[in-house]
Amino acid sequence: MAKKIAVLVGSLRKESYNRRIANEMIRLADGKLDMEIVEIGHLPLYNEDLDHNPPQEWIDFRDEIKSADGILVVSPEYNRTIPGALKNAIDVGSRPYGSSAWPGKPGAVVTSSVSALGGLAANHHIRQAFVFVDVPLMQQPEAYIGNASQLFKHDGNTLVEDTQTFLQSFVDAFQQWVEKF
Ligand code: FNR
Repeated sequence: MAKKIAVLVGSLRKESYNRRIANEMIRLADGKLDMEIVEIGHLPLYNEDLDHNPPQEWIDFRDEIKSADGILVVSPEYNRTIPGALKNAIDVGSRPYGSSAWPGKPGAVVTSSVSALGGLAANHHIRQAFVFVDVPLMQQPEAYIGNASQLFKHDGNTLVEDTQTFLQSFVDAFQQWVEKF
C-alpha cells in the first residue's frame, strides 16, 4: 500500500505557485505515495499557555501529522526565511513537550520563488527546524524552484515539461527515501 504523506504548503495565497507545485507533485506521485495537503492557515498561533487546554485545530493537526508516514513541505521564502504560518505549524506539531507529532517521519523540502534563487534560504531554515524536531530529511536531490511565475503552461496549473521531469525524479527519490523507514 502507498505510504501516506502529509503535504504542508507554506503559502496561504489562493493562487499560490507553491500550492500549484504541491498539487502537481501529488498528481506525479499517484499510485506511489498517497499525498494529501494538510491545511495550516487556520491554526491558532502557538502559545504554551494553551497546552493544558489546546484548541481543537491543534489537536486535529497533530493527529493528521501523527497518522502520516512522511512529510513533504512545499514553501515560498518570506524575507529570506520560513513563512510564519509554516513555522507556526512546525511549532504546533512539536508540542506538548514529550508528545511531538514529528519524530522519525521521513521528510523532504521543496521551495519555490518568483526570483531566480528558488527560496534557497528558506529551504535551509525549514531544514534547520526539522532537524530539531527529528524529521530525517532527504538530502538529495534538492529542490530550489526559481522563476515560478514562468513555469506554468497556459492553463496556469500544468508545469512545463522540464520542471515536471525534475519533480517526477524528486517524487521518485522521495518514495525511495520513505520506504527506508
Ligand atoms: C516574498 N517573496 C520573496 N521571494 C524570495 O525569493 N525571497 C524572499 O525573501 C521573499 N520575501 C517575500 C516576503 C513576503 C512577505 C512576500 C509576500 C513575498 C516573493 C515570493 O517569492 C512570491 O510572492 C511567491 O509568489 C510566493 O509564493 P506563492 O504564494 O506564490 O506560493
